[in-house]
Amino acid sequence: MFKNPIYIAAGLLVLSIAFAFTPSGQGKMSAYFPDKEVDQATLKEMYVEDALLDLGDEKPIHFIEKLDADSARMGEEMVKYGRLLDKSNKRISKYFVCTDCHNVQMESADPADESPAAVLEYSKKNKIPFLPASTFYGMFNKRHWYNGDYEKKYGDLVAPTRDTLANAIQLCAVQCSQGRELVNWEIRSIMHYYKSIGFKIKDLNFSKEERKELKGYISKNNDKAIGLLKKKYSQANPATFGHVEKPKMDSYQPNAENGEYIYQYGCLHCHAVEKEMTNFDLGNNKLDFKFLHSKFEASHHSLLYVTRKGTYAFNGRRQYMPQYSMEKMSDEQLLDLMYYITSKAEE
Ligand code: HEC
Ligand code: HEC
Repeated sequence: MFKNPIYIAAGLLVLSIAFAFTPSGQGKMSAYFPDKEVDQATLKEMYVEDALLDLGDEKPIHFIEKLDADSARMGEEMVKYGRLLDKSNKRISKYFVCTDCHNVQMESADPADESPAAVLEYSKKNKIPFLPASTFYGMFNKRHWYNGDYEKKYGDLVAPTRDTLANAIQLCAVQCSQGRELVNWEIRSIMHYYKSIGFKIKDLNFSKEERKELKGYISKNNDKAIGLLKKKYSQANPATFGHVEKPKMDSYQPNAENGEYIYQYGCLHCHAVEKEMTNFDLGNNKLDFKFLHSKFEASHHSLLYVTRKGTYAFNGRRQYMPQYSMEKMSDEQLLDLMYYITSKAEE
């Protein structure tokens, strides 16, 4: 009946819940779990967070018992449009919506590899924006936020966010999006939306061997099963800030196609004229490329400088540019971008 062993494994999970309700669960189906096999589709769609809890993993601080579809919808509206579509709440930010900086879909083929190279490859295939902040898909599965060098940028403000997702949302609403504080129901709605786009079993990339291993552990050694599940995705988004000098990699042959993608799906995601976000419009005319090229070596507001350091919000101009950490754009990719811009400027 089940072709794919992982679904057998997940099936055991579901069964183990069912049996938990049966006092003398000797392999007999419980009343809570009708005498029919769980179909593959249901198991594929099982959330990893739910599987972990079934296996007895510790509840995260942001634990949500049951996904509420209506709350998730409201959360999605606020994330994508900045407020509820019926306009019954105030805009979170006058300057940004969350999706200016964060995607809401998977960004790499394998959640265990979110390296910039893996993200760019997957993004190119699926036409996904190449953005400086982490995707919200799977954000619910993380356990730490504003990691690494974000402490340098936001100082003590990151402390309460490091283990509490709700606090990370609040910090981002106020600081990153230059907006207002959210009230409880708004945070709760965004949290339900995050739960709805948490990793599912089908998103994790199990090898045949791992599937077998997982199946072997379930109900015999749940801790090992939990460990194995958690090995399949990163528990946090690390962040290392880069340097503002041109990366020295003499033997690297830059890739113009990658550079083009980063420009079109990264830089123009915000700088395109029709976005009306920045005072610094960019497009595909030669003058834009020439301008960016002429600023390669500048000490301030150069391409290198803003990509690695971003810009700051100040009074009267709250729109700022978030930086790309090394985890969001590698030095190779930065060279790809510069190579593409140079070739367009000199065309
Ligand atoms: C102008 C850009 C920008 C906007 C707009 C923005 N964010 Fe962020 N956000 C960031 C950056 C940069 C980080 C830090 C790095 C990261 O995401 O990994 C961040 C971090 C976060 C984190 C923690 C991620 C982590 O893994 O450490 C959460 C949660 C978050 N933002 C939620 C939101 C929500 C909700 C909104 C909309 C209300 C929003 N953000 C709007 C740029 C932005
Ligand atoms: C998340 C949105 C966003 C992304 C992505 C983004 N920028 Fe920006 N950028 C901004 C904002 C906002 C400003 C501030 C400009 C303003 O005051 O209107 C800015 C400023 C700049 C400036 C400085 C202009 C000046 O001299 O003040 C440069 C150069 C720049 N961006 C280049 C880039 C390049 C190159 C990329 C792609 C690697 C990029 N940006 C990606 C939002 C973004």
